[in-house]
Amino acid sequence: MPLRLAVLASLTGSLFEAMIKQQLPVQLMVADRQCRALEIADKAGIPYEFLPRTFGRTFDREEYTRAMMMLFRAYGIDLVAMAGFMTVFAPAMFAPDAYQLRILNTHPSLLPSFKGDHAVRDALAYGVKISGCTIHWATEKLDDGPILAQEAVRVSSGDTIESLHERIKTVERELYPALLRELVA
Ligand code: GRF
Repeated sequence: MPLRLAVLASLTGSLFEAMIKQQLPVQLMVADRQCRALEIADKAGIPYEFLPRTFGRTFDREEYTRAMMMLFRAYGIDLVAMAGFMTVFAPAMFAPDAYQLRILNTHPSLLPSFKGDHAVRDALAYGVKISGCTIHWATEKLDDGPILAQEAVRVSSGDTIESLHERIKTVERELYPALLRELVA
């Protein structure tokens, strides 16, 4: 039986859109804030849930993680793809009887370099000539966990954060769905 896949998004959802275009079976999309991914799911007729989080001191990571796990269980989810999802889960999510080695993340740098929310900006500021993307199993640590795939992207002299990130995302839009397809099957 194919695994049941959920996608998590917080941003523009272009990776999620690529997964849909490539006919990846997505059983659920969850967004943690208002974002374009919700509209994409709605238009594509993919079941979706809005599980908003708070920011700053009021954010209860354990509680949020529990709520997300309940959603996964309600939809019978086996495999989760974070696609521009900006919340890190509490350790309970990664317990062996929960979603350990079942949640993937894609990050726009060649890990372990340039972790964090500003990977493309930081790589450019450092002056690297090659960057890229990394798909890895997620853990409770930010942008950490066993690496499954990486692809290099050359930095051009005139690159801006936007131009470099778009070229990296062009690679992610092929690499991530292809890997997910294998895992789902
Ligand atoms: C990707 O570059 C991914 O690596 C990062 O967020 C971006 C998502 O892009 N975590 P989009 O929102 O799917 O366009």
